[in-house]
Amino acid sequence: MARTRKSFICQSCGATSGKWAGQCEACGEWNSILEEQTSHHPAGLGKISPHLARGRAITLSNLEGKDRPPPRLLSTINEFDRACGGGLVPGSALLISGDPGIGKSTILLQAVARLAANDIRTVYISGEESISQVRMRAKRLGLDHSPVRLGAETNLRDILTTLDKEPGLQVVVIDSIQTMYADTADSAPGTVTQVRTCAQELIRYAKARNVCVLLVGHVTKDGQIAGPRVLEHMVDTVLYFEGDRGHQFRILRAVKNRFGGTDEIGVFEMSDLGLQEVLNPSALFIGNRSGDISGSAIFAGMEGSRPMLMEIQALVAPSSLGQPRRAVVGWDSGRLAMIIAVLDGRCGLGLGAYDIYLNVAGGLRITEPAADMAVAAALISSLSDRPIAKETILFGEISLSGEIRPVSQADARLKESAKLGFVHAYMPANIKHKGKGMKLKELDQITKLVDLIAQDTL
Ligand code: TYD
Ligand code: MG
Repeated sequence: MARTRKSFICQSCGATSGKWAGQCEACGEWNSILEEQTSHHPAGLGKISPHLARGRAITLSNLEGKDRPPPRLLSTINEFDRACGGGLVPGSALLISGDPGIGKSTILLQAVARLAANDIRTVYISGEESISQVRMRAKRLGLDHSPVRLGAETNLRDILTTLDKEPGLQVVVIDSIQTMYADTADSAPGTVTQVRTCAQELIRYAKARNVCVLLVGHVTKDGQIAGPRVLEHMVDTVLYFEGDRGHQFRILRAVKNRFGGTDEIGVFEMSDLGLQEVLNPSALFIGNRSGDISGSAIFAGMEGSRPMLMEIQALVAPSSLGQPRRAVVGWDSGRLAMIIAVLDGRCGLGLGAYDIYLNVAGGLRITEPAADMAVAAALISSLSDRPIAKETILFGEISLSGEIRPVSQADARLKESAKLGFVHAYMPANIKHKGKGMKLKELDQITKLVDLIAQDTL
């Protein structure tokens, strides 16, 4: 007999404590602790050491084997397949998370419809919308004739029984895991215990029946998967669906993948007809740029294995405040402070008296340190009011000593730049590259970049 016990669980990080508190001691979140019922094994069973009470011996094997990876299930939406690491893996569990209204239900409906059209048996279970709401969306997207099996249910037991009755099932979407309810756990839907129990059951189902399960997960206001990060450890693949409400494009980003590369991205554009693939993202992000404006630099970046050009915009203006204003969108503010310090300390630019605004165009977010040089160039260009030539790209990491450090995948960056009609590349010295079709200028010190912009030769 399982015994139930009350415990207090942080809804943000999943930490358990014996009593209620206003702030979680583990993650520091306020007002996140809720009382939940948890089940425990009967007294005694858990107390016998596994070493004393003998269990069943399992068969061990070696690494070599004849297992072949099963073929991936392809949705033929290339950007979706790419983000999943080359298609869905049978028997795997994926978590897709993102802000409300970003398009999770839309992309999954489109993906299962295409999978179903490719003769893959799919089921879509919605816990948030009614059958008619999903149908209306499907009609709007022109997918209402796809052979997707549809259900609206939140009771996990009923869902699993239903899935077991579907012959040859290959892909299941659960939209969303926070709405699911397992009657084995006593807490309310959406609490950590419920989310964890439901996810565990669904993942067990995926492995046992060799079905790919796609879970939709909500994100809290500070970007965590509500109820909570533990889900990320349980699933095989975690995809974030990101984008800016003010912009049309959306990025599906793999942050964990047991069957493929992380940081792979798929780029989509939200339109009247749902999410459309963006086949050439670089062209989209630098598309409508007017030349001859100071403070704009093009960075040749990498997103996973894919090169992508992005525009970095800076505005440096004399400050009327005692403490100048620094605002950054799409980049790390700590990293910007470092670049400003290097430009001040090593090149004597005196940026301390200026307000500085930095923006990555199109609402993109850059995490690579390789963007340092493009950021520095945009800042210097804005400060000196000298535009950077339109057909120039930059990449390179800047160290605190003012040296420009090598970065990886120079070839891919240069190739993408040449493809989009760029001619000049300013990059770190001493890196291996072929650099066909581009005029290259290798720099080893940030002071050289300042000189080039001052002489109007960049
Ligand atoms: P949805 O997939 O419901 O978001 P989520 O499941 O992540 O909460 O997306 C809803 C948003 O997408 C909504 O604001 C309207 C917009 N949208 C379009 O612009 N075009 C479309 O064809 C569809 C289906 C949705
Ligand atoms: Mg939804």
